[in-house]
Amino acid sequence: MSTDLNDFKIIKEGEAEILMHAKNEVFYNKTQVNNRDLSIAVLRTFIEKRQLEHEAFLTRRTKSAEKVLEKNSESVSGSAPNEMPMDDIECNGEREMLDETPQEEPCSVRKDIPESTNGKGKRELKPPRVLEALSASGLRALRYAREVEGIGQVVALDNDKASVEACRRNIKFNGSVACSKVESHLTDARVFMLTHPKEFDVVDLDPYGSPSVFLDSAVQSVVDGGMLMCTATDMAVLCGGNGEVCYSKYGSYPLRGKYCHEMALRILLACIESHANRYKRYIVPVLSVQMDFYIRVFVRIYTSASAMKNTPLKLSYVYQCIGCDSFHLQQIGRTVSKNNSVRYLPGFGPVVPQECTDCGKKFNMGGPIWSAPIHDLEWVTSILADLKSMKDRYPAYDRISAVLTTISEELPDIPLFLSLHNLCATLKCTSPSAVVFRSAVINAGYRISGTHVNPLGLKTDAPMDVIWDIMRCWVKSHPVKEQPSDQPGSVILAKEPAFQANFARAVASLSKAQAKKVARFLPNPERHWGPKLRAGRQITSKHISLLGPEAVNGSLKHDHDDGDEEAQGEAKRQKTADPTLVS
Ligand SMILES: C[S@@+](CC[C@H](N)C(=O)[O-])C[C@H]1O[C@@H](n2cnc3c(N)ncnc32)[C@H](O)[C@@H]1O
Ligand SMILES: [Zn+2]
Repeated sequence: MSTDLNDFKIIKEGEAEILMHAKNEVFYNKTQVNNRDLSIAVLRTFIEKRQLEHEAFLTRRTKSAEKVLEKNSESVSGSAPNEMPMDDIECNGEREMLDETPQEEPCSVRKDIPESTNGKGKRELKPPRVLEALSASGLRALRYAREVEGIGQVVALDNDKASVEACRRNIKFNGSVACSKVESHLTDARVFMLTHPKEFDVVDLDPYGSPSVFLDSAVQSVVDGGMLMCTATDMAVLCGGNGEVCYSKYGSYPLRGKYCHEMALRILLACIESHANRYKRYIVPVLSVQMDFYIRVFVRIYTSASAMKNTPLKLSYVYQCIGCDSFHLQQIGRTVSKNNSVRYLPGFGPVVPQECTDCGKKFNMGGPIWSAPIHDLEWVTSILADLKSMKDRYPAYDRISAVLTTISEELPDIPLFLSLHNLCATLKCTSPSAVVFRSAVINAGYRISGTHVNPLGLKTDAPMDVIWDIMRCWVKSHPVKEQPSDQPGSVILAKEPAFQANFARAVASLSKAQAKKVARFLPNPERHWGPKLRAGRQITSKHISLLGPEAVNGSLKHDHDDGDEEAQGEAKRQKTADPTLVS
């Protein structure tokens, strides 16, 4: 590689600058600024919360120690107490025997953390150590080191020699803070993570395509209470293009519904949970985002053999009717409580008959997916607040604040969503506006929200028969042309609605952000905003013939139609990506 500086151009993102060689042999995609900005925002919040959890832990420990002392002084016999002070409890798999609350076992109580001498004998937190397992140019690691206050060491790995050379050059180029905090290693990330168990407070996986081969070692490398950040760009696989490939990589079958991008997030979460479970660990999702051409999840990892028993309660199969838009979830496990004890049992099933009760067609079955919440809304609020307090420090501020705003308004307990567009396509009717439809659902006594994944998607706890009744009532005042009687839409409309829908505008039919006209979806800032080829790979005629020239530039379009202009604009932005085209 040439060392003539004229062969390089300088790329600046946030506080970091990297040297990019004219031949561009090392991976860099500027569209991933959204991904990196979001990760920085989450990292900042993680550091704050970790500190708060640590302080809460110390308070509990002091109280618990005081109780033990009290009991000991009361003890007449003077024999050894049978209660252990909290300080003696290991922060690992043993610990949960005494306390199951995740907050009780954060990384903050690691035994390798030295006692500080601040006069009070308080155990202080070490700054968090971050592993950027797949670092390429090191841009992300450098941004973490230079921009995130309170961060500790950042270890950047790559198994590609040119990338590691570039990363080391970039570390030097970024001055003393970078040199003191970031270290780069030429190694296979899987081997490194396996040989560094529970060592990193944050592990960041940002691979080409699928992260599946890295998950098993990554879940082992995170400390208890630490965080795994993970990107997947193989959306064609995760969204049902090749169900069997998805099954082989992630252990779940995808379905090709309009909700496929959310299903992709839930498949990835289920997969991470399954790897974590192998080591008596489990995940708690903090934020799960579908953006641009990829998904990215932020999950905390804890160890607890007993909490792990709850995993089957957080996973479900999905039955998707092949005729209409109906879908139904079947939880894998259930619990029965009796005399203060809980029994874990397989879920009751099937939750659907052989034929759809709405249209008479059969069901495809997908999953298992993560069906518990995919975000922690308290975290989302904190991340948004942090973000807003330092707007200027995020090059992609507008985009990520829009995504986080939409996420903050999602119904947290409703997996997947309906597409109003699809409901109307099934019935061959004109579409009510989103506000009118939302009003009818709210007036019927149910909750409804949008989803960050699709501007036309609607999350609701209304059962499918209520949804179809609302649509039947709509069609009564907006008649459709007669269709063949065996069509799903004809079968649905042949039934009379069980109740009269009320389409009068409900106050909550607009979300707070919509009412305040806060941006929720933004268009791409420029053309060619999409995945990039693996470094060194050329776009071939195969890519172009497979996906069309636009897709190769990362701008495959889907057709959508809705009264909501912002939603329409964004719907056009929705795209899929070829698994061979990567982040
Ligand atoms: C998509 S790039 C990472 C981009 C980077 N995170 C960023 O934000 O700019 C993926 C990198 O992973 C590296 N890689 C792939 N397999 C690896 C492995 N088994 N161990 C370490 N690095 C690997 C590739 O060489 C490539 O540089
Ligand atoms: Zn059906």
